[in-house]
Amino acid sequence: MKRILFPICSFFITVSYAQQNSDMQMNKFIDNLMSKMTVDEKIGQLNLPSAGDFTTGQAKNSNIGESIKEGKVGGLFNIKSVAKIKDIQHIAVEDSRLKIPLLFGMDVIHGYETQFPIPLQLSCSWDTALIKKTAQVAAREASADGICWTYSPMVDIARDPRWGRVAEGSGEDPFLGSAIAKAMVEGYQGNGTYSSNENIMACVKHYALYGGVEAGRDYNTVDMSHITMYNDYFPPYKAAVDAGVGSIMASFNVVDYVPATGNKWLLTDVLRKQWGFKGFVVSDYTGVMEMTQHGLGDLQQVSALALKAGLDMDMVSEGFLTTLKKSLKEGKISQSDIDDACKRILEAKYKLGLFQNPYKYCDEQRAKTEIFTPANKEFSKQVAEQSMVLLKNAHQLLPLKASENIAVIGPLADAANQMGGTWSVAANLDDYGSVYQAIKKYVGTKGNVLYAQGSNLVEDSVMQERVTMFGKSISRGGKSDAELLNEALNVANKSDIIVTALGESAEFSGESSSRSNIGIPHVQEHLLKALLKTGKPVVLLLFNGRPLTISWEAKNVPAILDVWFGGTEAGKAIAETLFGKSNPSGKLTMTFPQNVGQIPLYYNHLNTGRPLADGHWFEKFRSNYLDVSNDAVYPFGYGLSYTAFKYGKMQLSDTILKGNQTLKASVSLTNTGKYDGREIVQLYIRDMVGSIARPVEELKGFQKIFLKAGETKTVTFNITVDNLKFYNSDLKYDWESGQFNIMIGSNAKDVQSQMIEWNK
Ligand code: BGC
Repeated sequence: MKRILFPICSFFITVSYAQQNSDMQMNKFIDNLMSKMTVDEKIGQLNLPSAGDFTTGQAKNSNIGESIKEGKVGGLFNIKSVAKIKDIQHIAVEDSRLKIPLLFGMDVIHGYETQFPIPLQLSCSWDTALIKKTAQVAAREASADGICWTYSPMVDIARDPRWGRVAEGSGEDPFLGSAIAKAMVEGYQGNGTYSSNENIMACVKHYALYGGVEAGRDYNTVDMSHITMYNDYFPPYKAAVDAGVGSIMASFNVVDYVPATGNKWLLTDVLRKQWGFKGFVVSDYTGVMEMTQHGLGDLQQVSALALKAGLDMDMVSEGFLTTLKKSLKEGKISQSDIDDACKRILEAKYKLGLFQNPYKYCDEQRAKTEIFTPANKEFSKQVAEQSMVLLKNAHQLLPLKASENIAVIGPLADAANQMGGTWSVAANLDDYGSVYQAIKKYVGTKGNVLYAQGSNLVEDSVMQERVTMFGKSISRGGKSDAELLNEALNVANKSDIIVTALGESAEFSGESSSRSNIGIPHVQEHLLKALLKTGKPVVLLLFNGRPLTISWEAKNVPAILDVWFGGTEAGKAIAETLFGKSNPSGKLTMTFPQNVGQIPLYYNHLNTGRPLADGHWFEKFRSNYLDVSNDAVYPFGYGLSYTAFKYGKMQLSDTILKGNQTLKASVSLTNTGKYDGREIVQLYIRDMVGSIARPVEELKGFQKIFLKAGETKTVTFNITVDNLKFYNSDLKYDWESGQFNIMIGSNAKDVQSQMIEWNK
């Protein structure tokens, strides 16, 4: 025992000694540098302007170039390519007085040039190792192109699918959301030392509660209890902090009536004092300036408020740059307020290794060989396959046979530029293929594939422009709706099976893309109904950046595959899945409501004093609606496979536990179908009696299990009191003795359960 322990202990001592030593070196370096800096130069480090994009050589003569020379810029963002970044870094480290390098940031949200599925789809893989690898690949590509800082992961818990930014996050659950936040931070940052130039600094966003905007309207007010914040909305941000995230972005919304950007309780008391965050905080785009619209004062007032609250870097507003010196003179802020923020930004640059080598991320050779590689594209295809969700498959309509006559119909069927989804800043959309092209290629000479657009994306051309921005237009083709429909019916009538690609375009979701109705647009629904009337079997490929209200489709369309926006290789991944080369295994991470009136509809809600009994639609004086049941169309955790899984009876190691014991909950899982496949087994717990009302169930574990056809495996969850803890009325994180319902199942609504007692 001793012989094993000794080297381990000495290893830790060496590591922490080395850490202390390097911290001391860093402090010495930064203190020395700061002793030479003027107040203006310190304030300059807190300034993050939007640079737009430059052509090489142009930056030097621009206003930004001048500002960099004068030491008024701490970093720039959304500039692409080594040549341009090198050019601009050169101005900072050659032409400015103190030669302080710049940070180069970008919204590398779901991949760089190789795009992965949108984050909401990615979360449906429930595979944290896979997700971590997507962040690693994204970091490798971005760092090869000059970027050292990404504004990701976005970890805002969201229960309202009207909010377009649900596409950028991991859905409604804090437990899964936290696991994904950790995986992504580790994927981008590696072990956090940035000893390799393949790792970049992550920026977890949008802190905090941005997903709680009222009515799902972007940038709207947020108002929630502290208990909800701590138990449901804070955990993923905290998980990112625990994983060592280097920076955090303040959100646009108010928290307790004070914008997050200037909220001292949020940025200092919770983030730094309670969670021990050591990195720096950046505002969101014009977040400082927007505080004037929130009614918190003029630019000078709000800038001082934000700095004192704990905001270190001002994105775009130039409120810090233009007013902090005045506030300092007037005694509204102190020198140490400025110094603290400046130090944190210089520390980030130091940790990234930019003082040692400002061109560390500017390696032309890497840029040529490490971006958009065949291996990365192949990986992206696998990720897309692992994260699609099969919602319905009546009579095993899927997988299809390649030898059939297939009609591929719909405004999204041949729309290659939509495949990457929202926030594909670095992507070259010309490199993408469409679903129709991929199906045609897959089928080859074995079968016959015909195509028709069938309808426009939406009926109104003005609306269409709004949802097809950023180079992602879809042609309206100059044909009338009747002509488009006729073409589609012609093609359908010549075929054995209809594959229809419908739903949202890429920019239907994302920032500033809230919707008050979240159905498939009417003109597409009309097409779908006409296709179903032909009597031919119809497969619906659903494109969406949010849960859609598809109760009608769920009842009337025999097969629905939710393909979201799968990234660079989405077309291929969809084709291979349709024909059974890949078997879907994703599960939903957001509830699909029946209609907008039910929103917010989420699985981990409180019980109310008058809950509706399971399986009931309506009972007078119960918590329900007259006109719609309380059920979801598809619940959290739901998703099918081409094969079938049978769950055995749940076994518990104990039913009465004490203190720090571990409860083992197991279930046998058999693949009873004829395909190999993956099942995501989910563990939920309900705390039956508490000092505060507790949710009807909470996800506390999940495992993605691969089973060959006919194979059986036992799946075991180890449950400890950590899984029972929650924030009580005093915001103390603890567990309470009592009864707990242990549930295991294939989704939040399909579980078996057993009651246990656990006492202190
Ligand atoms: C978004 C952020 C993004 C930033 C920089 C803002 O509008 O809210 O998520 O990181 O722009 O592009």
